[in-house]
Amino acid sequence: MSWLDDFASRIEHDVPIGHRTWFRLGGRARYLFKPRDAQDLAALVRRARQADVPVKVLGNGANVLICDDGFDGVVVRLDEGSFRRVERRGTQVRVGAGVDLMGFARTCSTQGLSGLECMAGIPASIGGAVKMNAGGRFGDFGSTVAHVQVLRRDGAIEDWPQKRVRFGYRNTNLGDGIVLSATLALREEDPLQVRRKYDENFAWKLLTQPMSENSAGCIFKNPTDCSAGALMDKAGLKGTRCGQARVSHRHANFIVADQGATTSDVLRLIELMRERVRCVFGTELEVEVDIWGSMSDRDGIR
Ligand code: EPU
Repeated sequence: MSWLDDFASRIEHDVPIGHRTWFRLGGRARYLFKPRDAQDLAALVRRARQADVPVKVLGNGANVLICDDGFDGVVVRLDEGSFRRVERRGTQVRVGAGVDLMGFARTCSTQGLSGLECMAGIPASIGGAVKMNAGGRFGDFGSTVAHVQVLRRDGAIEDWPQKRVRFGYRNTNLGDGIVLSATLALREEDPLQVRRKYDENFAWKLLTQPMSENSAGCIFKNPTDCSAGALMDKAGLKGTRCGQARVSHRHANFIVADQGATTSDVLRLIELMRERVRCVFGTELEVEVDIWGSMSDRDGIR
């Protein structure tokens, strides 16, 4: 009898997942599971917890780096219809965790539902955007959220009103809870104006960041008083390489994975960047990207 028995026919084994991330790097997942609905996921999470098997949800893969030797646990994908529902009631929209943020934000803007223009060009699933409070110069996702439906690791499903969720800088107090859906409070405005704002924000993003290359957005969080990208630029890091991973010329807080790069190249470059900034400015940078697998533990990268 194994913890897997209840799900045996639906769990895939030894599945490549690196190509599902924006870096397009890294090895395989020991297991891959696509739950039918929230109850199905709750059952898996409960069983995996009893068996001490780690479970991670892979959304859009935009902020995840998977180690070369893969992830020894269950990777969950919220691909099924029940996680991709969008239900609108006036200006409140309930949206499933598996919905693609960029497409959703664009659709809302086109329909004159304002609040998500600041999300233009930010790659994420709704679940990831809630969990990390995705955002940038123009605002963050948390400011539109009215409710979050959360699955706890003991299998309980809870509804968190906005006042219970603490949206910080690229984090929340949701802990290891899995986001199932979010209800957003948007505003009805002139569709042309809203869409114009969205397009302006998107154009700015294209101009300042290497969006067409394989990267995971900003590698480090910004320190409280400055931009990590500006610090690394001043430290002369643009163009620096480890193997086939390099610091972008467009934005120094982006690592780009060229053809043939490995996760190990990226991790070495992360350490090199951090060391240089520590030496030049005495500032300790904190990694923003979520690193999955054994190499993150071994190298002590946080
Ligand atoms: N700068 C440089 N050189 C660089 C990069 C930036 O001099 O290589 C300067 C810029 O000219 C600007 C300042 O640093 O004066 C800030 O740069 P930017 O506006 O690009 O913002 P950022 O602080 O580097 C943050 C988010 C991005 C988000 C942008 C814009 C973090 C770690 N990064 O970057 O988010 O897109 O604002 O909204 O908070 C991400 O989190 O993955 C991400 C890409």
